[in-house]
Amino acid sequence: MDMDKLVSLCKRRGFLFQSSEIYGGLNGFWDYGPLGVELKRNIKDAWWRDMVTGHDELSTPAGAPAPYEMTGLDCTIIMHPQVWKVSGHFDLFHDFMVDCRESKKRYRYDQVRGRWVTYREQTIFVATNVEVDKEQEDVQTRALKFFKLRNKDAEEITWTSEFVSLTTLGNDFTKVLAPDAKELGTLLEPREFNLMFKTIVGALGTAEDAAFLRPETAQGIFVNFKNVCDSTRVRVPFGIAQVGKSFRNEITPKNFTFRSREFEQMEIEFFCHPSTSREWYQYWRDRRMKWYTDMGLSTERLQLREHHVEELSHYSCGTADIEYAFPFLPAGEYGELEGIAHRGDFDLRSHMEGKLDPNSKPDLKVELGPDGKPKHRGSGKDLTYRDDLTNERFTPHVIEPSAGADRATLAFLCEAYHEDQAPDENGVMQTRVVMKLHPRIAPIKAAVFPLVKKDGMPEKAQEIYRALKKRYNVFYDEKGAVGRRYRRQDEAGTPFCITVDGQSLIDNTVTIRDRDTLEQKRISADAVLAEIETRIG
Ligand code: GAP
Repeated sequence: MDMDKLVSLCKRRGFLFQSSEIYGGLNGFWDYGPLGVELKRNIKDAWWRDMVTGHDELSTPAGAPAPYEMTGLDCTIIMHPQVWKVSGHFDLFHDFMVDCRESKKRYRYDQVRGRWVTYREQTIFVATNVEVDKEQEDVQTRALKFFKLRNKDAEEITWTSEFVSLTTLGNDFTKVLAPDAKELGTLLEPREFNLMFKTIVGALGTAEDAAFLRPETAQGIFVNFKNVCDSTRVRVPFGIAQVGKSFRNEITPKNFTFRSREFEQMEIEFFCHPSTSREWYQYWRDRRMKWYTDMGLSTERLQLREHHVEELSHYSCGTADIEYAFPFLPAGEYGELEGIAHRGDFDLRSHMEGKLDPNSKPDLKVELGPDGKPKHRGSGKDLTYRDDLTNERFTPHVIEPSAGADRATLAFLCEAYHEDQAPDENGVMQTRVVMKLHPRIAPIKAAVFPLVKKDGMPEKAQEIYRALKKRYNVFYDEKGAVGRRYRRQDEAGTPFCITVDGQSLIDNTVTIRDRDTLEQKRISADAVLAEIETRIG
């Protein structure tokens, strides 16, 4: 699929617009147009329905170790700054950026993976497959410190490949060599910055009033864990879901909405007993993968990729990414749609104690006070859980399926785009652009047309339109040739078109046209709503 064609359709038909376009746009920010807003809302609603309100807590779902409950939250975007200190985002959510003078390429140090990567998502995957021995690992850690100090000698560091397997010449990191030793050029001064957007709360604007826009929705869930336990009757295992905006000051937003600076996440924090956490991790990996295929993504373009040990976050004992073969990536490469992470008790423990988990890697930077203890403590509140049946008190482990609503929307758009041959109104075969969106997420569920604008057909069509409108987002159109009206709806992804014609006035029947098969079936006008309900499922 040609990405340019999809981008142009999205603009032309009102799925996506560049933010502030009349002022030249703002890089990394996107607006959803009239069709896009419905599509994205349907995706978020389907996710919420399937994960939260539609979940049956009385039975054990296939693959799950036990029945479980689900509930939701809607937390603020700006939270107490201490949240970000304790979560690690204040200290660790940094990017180190270097530009290569000759190649003009830009690289960043991916702290979680401990690798230098270019801003091409696929490079990250290549980089993570590289075997790094202990010695190199140490070198990388030291190189990172070196860059942090902004040593003036950084000018002399030579970039040698898409990513770096570092070797030092002496101890001063003046030369960085890649395995293939192919030199690309000289790096300019490395810069470090935090990916969180900073803002000011209150009128004074002093340094103490600094706050941050959340870079993930997850922390709102952790800091409300006790509130949810105290205000509901949920029992572990249970999950808390949240859908909402997150913000990251990405250095190079790119690939349409794939990497944006403002985006929406659909996150679940699932709290379980440590002894069953591995089974729950397996369950959520498979459950979330199935959701994407149920919603229409093809298994050929999806993959579930288990992270290598070296790729795991410092707190994680297992992470898998659900990835999609986006058409803007080279063949065989995938982009992340969702991460499912086993986070242990890292988050709850941090918000209680602000201390390190003894198993976490030593490079987690925590400012120490004069007593040698972490300066930035957690809330001090008890976030442990007591099982009222067994009386056991423990800190629940967390499995986190964390999805991006915009990335899911983009994947569904890419998957939906099709060109085929269909007869036009004169019976001549023409190329047809059709968005084969799953009916559940299609922005418009049905379009209602009178064949012609006379003989009482518009009145009858409007009657059907009004009846359907009570239940679904439907569209009425009486302008132009009916063939052209069908084409417009195909491009919008509307799964069904209902047409009132001469026969409708005689026997109260209409035709219902299927977007994908082009099949037209004649049904009673009174059965239209039931027919659409059945077909949407
Ligand atoms: N709480 C864990 C977390 O936030 P993440 O892998 O950083 O994990 C989760 O983000 C998901 O959020 C990603 O899989 C992706 O779908 C989406 N996401 C992250 N950064 C994004 C960006 N800059 N633009 C669009 N979506 C993004």
